[in-house]
Order: sequence, then structure tokens, then C-alpha cells
Amino acid sequence: MTEPVIDQSASLERTMARSREIDVELVKNPAAFRVLTGDRPTGNLHIGHYFGSLTNRVRLQDMGVDSCVLVADYQVITDRDGVGPIKERVYSLMADYLAAGIDPSRTMIFIHSAIPALNQLMLPFLSLVTDAELRRNPTVKAELEDSERPMSGLMLTYPVHQAADILFCKANLVPVGKDQIPHIEMCRVIARRFDERYGRAGDQPVFPEADALLSLPTLILGTDATKMSKSKGNVIELGMTADETAKALKKAVTDSDRNITYDPIARPEVANLLVITGLCLDRDPASIAEEIGDGGAGTLKKVVTEALNERLRIHRERRAELVADPGYLESIIHDGNARANEIAETTLSEVRTAMKMSY
Ligand code: TRP
Repeated sequence: MTEPVIDQSASLERTMARSREIDVELVKNPAAFRVLTGDRPTGNLHIGHYFGSLTNRVRLQDMGVDSCVLVADYQVITDRDGVGPIKERVYSLMADYLAAGIDPSRTMIFIHSAIPALNQLMLPFLSLVTDAELRRNPTVKAELEDSERPMSGLMLTYPVHQAADILFCKANLVPVGKDQIPHIEMCRVIARRFDERYGRAGDQPVFPEADALLSLPTLILGTDATKMSKSKGNVIELGMTADETAKALKKAVTDSDRNITYDPIARPEVANLLVITGLCLDRDPASIAEEIGDGGAGTLKKVVTEALNERLRIHRERRAELVADPGYLESIIHDGNARANEIAETTLSEVRTAMKMSY
């Protein structure tokens, strides 16, 4: 069997153009969209997540877009031997979601391992893709080429599982970075092939073709100006105290030029601290640099520490209250899972009808 090879650059262009159209449509008609976003509970959320995705989720929710947030706990085991302290991580995620302003009465927050009917979609969906298509997925391919460990069946098929996450609730919009476009493309292919191959439950296709809503790549790096990663100790987590934040920023790498300027190419370390300050104060990093002028790295670090601690102050207060009340977090998880299960059951029943497998 042969299948069309997806032209990556054409796909990127189409996605970018469509994403710009959707930015306009969202303002005009927010109720036309159901957005799904998700995180793997592999560690605590940090300021990159905060400015890169949490604030955008809250923005969409507050615009009146029907919003769903998924905790992708099964995806933790795609490339790891164990689940780690998964429950603590899920609760930590929940605390950050709520503290950031995600409102569980408007946004459905749920955990995919707790939604059996979602996971059952994986079975018909797997019939719709070939192993060659899966191996071409850039994330899967990178795992195949770069990783020392043998690839698990779950890793190979994880874009299909992600499609189940998106399609069980018929989300039609998925905010993602460019690297996730191939996953969204596969999700569209699955929706289309399901319709062609298995038919419908009514007159509409069972599944929509979801669009990617492209987010700008997060500009924030770690305190050493390389990609944030817990193992490098360069991360500022949302759950850190103000003192811990000050300590982490004190260690931040800078350079020896006392005159502070915003030059991301020549001075990435200084630029990164300016970007963080700019995001906290909603200001242009270059103007902050001008203000600091000859004040040197010491002043810059003082400015960024104050701005960040002030920006996160309320988030951290709420977060601490929430973490201290696991019973409340549990009730939010149960409510969200119950709503997601209801939706998943309805969708699975349509799938059974379309596939003539309702008994
Ligand atoms: N794969 C995503 C990540 O690694 C997490 C994720 C799982 C997701 N399912 C999703 C994101 C569905 C958007 C939609 O971060």
C-alpha cells in the first residue's frame, strides 16, 4: 500500500496561513471553537510554560472559547521506564493551572488515563495509519535515530494517541508550537480516513479536522541561556519561593560588559534576562536595557528578580493554598474526568454506529 507523502514545507505554510485566519475568527466568533491543550506530567511547570502557554490558555478561556486542558499522563511512559512521582506531578500541574486562572467551571480539566472511551479510540485509529507514516513523524523519527533506548510500541504510535486526545472531544483547535504540526496533520488524516473508511453516525463526519493555532516559540531560556531543563539546574519553577527565585537569578550567567544592551545574538544571556523582565512588566526589553544602561549585571539581576517575583506573587500565593488542599484538587480532577468521560462515551457510541459495531 502506498500513501501520499506529506510535504512538510507546504504543510507549514498552509498551517501558518490558516492559523492567522483563525486568530481573526477567534475574536469574531469564539464560540465556534473548542480548544484542547495538554501537558505531560514529567516535572513542575516553569516560567517558560507560564509565559508560553498558561497565559494564552487563560486568554482563550476568558474570550469565551470552549476550552479543555488535558493532563497526558500516559504520554509519560512513551520514553521512560517508569511513571516517576506521577501523582505529585499531576497535583502540582493542577495547582498551577488553577493559580494561573484556568477556571474549572469554564475549562474542562481531565487526565487521559482516566477516560477509558478516549483510549478505546486508539484501536480504530491505529487501523488508519501505516507504520511508514508513523516512522516519518519527526518526533518519532528523532527518537528512532537519536535515542539510545529501543523504541516502544507506545512511542511509535504516540501521535495516534494524541489524535485520540484531540478527537474524543471533537476539539477543532489545538494551540501548539511548530514542532507539533506533524501531529496535528496526522490527526487530520485520521479524522478524514475514518470518515472515508468507516462512514458516519449521522450526516456529518464523526470527527472534525482540527487546526493548529500556532504559538510563538517561547523566547525564554534557562538562567544559563540554554534551553530550560531540570537536569541542568537552570530552571525557574512557578512553585519556587521569592528567595529561591532570587538565588537562581543571582547565579544567572551574564557577560563582562557593564553597559546593558538588548542584543539577543551577541549577548544571549543578558537578552534572556531582559526578555523575562519585559514579559513580567509587559514592556519592550530594549527600553528596559536603556534604563539600566551602565548599571551592569548586578542591576539587571535586581530588576529581573523584582519583576518576576512581583509578577508571580499572586500566582504563588494561590498555588500554595491549593497545594495545601489536595482534597479540593482531587474534587476538581474528579469533576473534569466525569465530564470528559461523558463526552468520550458519546463519541465512542457514534464511532460504534459508524463502524456498525453497536451491539
Ligand atoms: N504531546 C504533547 C507534549 O508533548 C502533550 C499532548 C498530549 C497534547 N496530547 C495532546 C497536546 C493533545 C495537545 C493536544 O507536550
